[in-house]
Amino acid sequence: MTEPEDLIQAAQAAFAAATQPAALENEKARFLGRGGRLTELLKGLAKLPAEEKRTQGARINAAKERIEAALERRRGELAEAELNARLAQEAIDVTLPGRRRGAGGIHPVIRTWQRIEEIFGSIGFDLADGPEIENDWYNFTALNNPENHPARSMQDTFYVDASDEHGKPLLLRTHTSPMQVRYARMHRPPIKVIALGRTYRVDSDATHSPMFHQVEGLWIDENISFADLKAVYTDFMRRFFETDDLQVRFRPSFFPFTEPSAEIDMMFTSGALQGRWLEISGAGQVHPSVVRNFGLDPERHIGFAFGSGLERLTMLRYGVDDLRLFFEGDLRFLAQFN
Ligand code: FA5
Ligand code: MG
Repeated sequence: MTEPEDLIQAAQAAFAAATQPAALENEKARFLGRGGRLTELLKGLAKLPAEEKRTQGARINAAKERIEAALERRRGELAEAELNARLAQEAIDVTLPGRRRGAGGIHPVIRTWQRIEEIFGSIGFDLADGPEIENDWYNFTALNNPENHPARSMQDTFYVDASDEHGKPLLLRTHTSPMQVRYARMHRPPIKVIALGRTYRVDSDATHSPMFHQVEGLWIDENISFADLKAVYTDFMRRFFETDDLQVRFRPSFFPFTEPSAEIDMMFTSGALQGRWLEISGAGQVHPSVVRNFGLDPERHIGFAFGSGLERLTMLRYGVDDLRLFFEGDLRFLAQFN
C-alpha cells in the first residue's frame, strides 16, 4: 500500500513537471480530486482498526496539507512566468517620443497661387476660374487658332475620349487662356481679371510637366496699352520676389491670340540665381479677332493678356532647379517650405 509520505514526493514531482496552468490543474485532480490518490488513501482508513485509524488519519492529513502547499507554490510560479512572458512580449519603451499627428502644410506651388491672388487682388483684379476639361472652341478657335492651323501644334494636347454637343473634340486645357474668352463673354468692360488653375500638355522634362499651373491675366478697356502690361507685370514681379534687384524683358514672340506678342523673361541682378534670363510668361496685346470673340468691338476695346507658369515662378522664388520635385510628394522636400 502507498504511504502518505510517498504521495507527497510523487505530487511534488508531478507539479514541477507541469509547465502550463491547465496541466497543473490536471495533476491536482489526480492527487486531490474525488477519486484522486489521496482520496483513495482516506477511503482505506475505514478498514483499519480504531487505533491505527487515528495515526494513519493524521499522516494522511499532514500529507494533504503538504501537497496543497506544493500546489499553491507551483500555481504561483506558473502565474509569475506567464506574467513575465507577457510583459516581455508587450514591452513598451516609454522613453521613446510619442507619435504626433503630422502637421499639414501648404504646397509651395499653392503658396505661389495665394501670393498671386493677393498681389493682383490688391490692384483691383477680379478672380475667376473655369473648367479643366475644355472644348476645342474656347481652347483654340476662339483664341484665333483656326482648325488645322499649325499654330495648334505649339501645344501638344491631351484629348479626352469624348466630344461636345457640336461633335467637336474635348480636351484638357493646354493653357488658362480660354478663361479670357469665358470671362469676357460674361462681363462688360472694364475687364480686369486673373484666372488660375491646372493646365495640361504632353510635356515632360526638368522644366516641363504634363500637368502644371498657369495664371491668366486680362485687362481690357478703352485705352489699355502694352505700356500698362509692362508696368503691371514688372510691379508684380518685384512684389512676388520681394526685391527690386531684378530685370524684366519683353522679348518679341508669337501667339495667335495676341498682336504684338512677347515672352516675358526675368533675371535677378543679385543673389544666387543672378545673371540668367528665364522665361516666365507669354503675353501681348489681345488680337482684334479675339476681342471680337469676347463680343466686343476691337475698334473701341483694347488691352493686354498674359499667361504665366506657377511652377516656373515657384522654382525661381525658392531656387529649385527641377520642377518634378513639386509632384513627387516627398515630405523631406515639401516640409522645407512650411
Ligand atoms: C501660353 O500658354 C499662352 N497661353 C500664354 C499667353 C497668355 C500668351 C496670354 C499671350 C497672352 P506658353 O506655352 O509659352 O504660352 O506657356 C506660358 C508659360 O507656362 C511658360 O512661360 C511656362 O512658364 C509655363 N509652361 C508651359 N508649359 C509648361 C510645362 N509643360 N510645365 C511647366 N510650365 C509650363
Ligand atoms: Mg513659351
